[in-house]
Amino acid sequence: MSRYATLAASLPASPANWLVTGAAGFIGSNLVEALLALDQNVVGLDNYATGHRRNLEEVASAVSAAQWARFRFIEADIRDADLCARACAGIDYVLHQAALGSVPRSLADPLATHSANITGFLNMLVAARDARIRRFVYAASSSTYGDHPDLPKLEHRIGRPLSPYAVTKYVNELYAGVFAQAYGFRSIGLRYFNVFGPRQDPEGAYAAVIPKWIAAMARGEAVRINGDGETSRDFCHVENVIQANLLAATVDDAPCSRPGTAYDGLSATDQVYNVAVGERTTLNTLHGLLQHHLRALRPGVNACPPDHGPFRDGDVRHSLADIGKAGALLGYRPTRRVDEGIAASMPWYLRFLGL
Ligand SMILES: NC(=O)c1ccc[n+]([C@@H]2O[C@H](COP(=O)([O-])OP(=O)(O)OC[C@H]3O[C@@H](n4cnc5c(N)ncnc54)[C@H](O)[C@@H]3O)[C@@H](O)[C@H]2O)c1
Repeated sequence: MSRYATLAASLPASPANWLVTGAAGFIGSNLVEALLALDQNVVGLDNYATGHRRNLEEVASAVSAAQWARFRFIEADIRDADLCARACAGIDYVLHQAALGSVPRSLADPLATHSANITGFLNMLVAARDARIRRFVYAASSSTYGDHPDLPKLEHRIGRPLSPYAVTKYVNELYAGVFAQAYGFRSIGLRYFNVFGPRQDPEGAYAAVIPKWIAAMARGEAVRINGDGETSRDFCHVENVIQANLLAATVDDAPCSRPGTAYDGLSATDQVYNVAVGERTTLNTLHGLLQHHLRALRPGVNACPPDHGPFRDGDVRHSLADIGKAGALLGYRPTRRVDEGIAASMPWYLRFLGL
């Protein structure tokens, strides 16, 4: 049995108190749903900057009434330190997801990204430390690899950041490291690689590629590929991200025994981990996969060839994770590969788009 299967089987018998920041967002609302389904007590915090009430309404209808009764929502901004402190009271585990995502958004408005992602992060870190919570797990990002050319990406080899967003996510890691050193407050950062799945917003100027393309294709429109389409990413379904968060929150702090590996003797906390599948998909392949799964459900939809535009500022050319560290120290084993993840997400998008 995997560590995650054991954990999922044991959690319902011992409900803990979880705080999920960014709870009305894509990943946050999926985390809330997973925790409630495991009979946990969950506090959600969000200011609806990019999240939606409808995401939480969906969670309410996905879990039982008894499970939903274990949820409390705080509409608050993590840039407010007092509110962060109040939200952390009585909490065992914090899963900190609230941030302004998107590289282009950060290039257009670096100050807004800075204040949510750095000031807000620091407020949460201080609040969690002062509340003596058991574990602080935060959403880091693959953007931290910046211009480092190595593939696959190994956690300890990073380059220079390519956007304000990447700077903010790297600063999160630096603060987390200093809090471990200076205050003994050990946390875990999860460097997500291009997450996708139900409730990822397909609308707006800063929509991520998968939901944006599904929406365009479902409406019979051609999608725009930035560059030649040979740019690649390690796309990761949100189910894998949920797994990584729950494993990180509950992993034992003691140095692990992995003789003969680079991880032998390391403690699982005060670390960052790649969270991905460990497979690279080009945008051209992604385009084909999305068309395939869309047409499997809606054969009548027009299969338009893509439009190729210029490369986008701040984008890295290739991204592929080595997930060995998360496997060794957290017991992480991704359960959904790209193709399966797209197949599992497509019905939600078609419902959401009313098609
Ligand atoms: N989706 C990805 O591919 C990806 C990749 C790497 C890292 N991440 C990180 O994962 C986390 C979740 O991302 P997501 O994709 O679910 O994005 P999202 O925009 O759907 O969710 C982020 C949530 O944070 C909330 N938020 C933003 N600023 C806030 C503030 N000042 N106070 C309170 N709430 C605030 C938003 O309203 C939103 O609900 C973010 O930290 C993001 O940087 C995501």
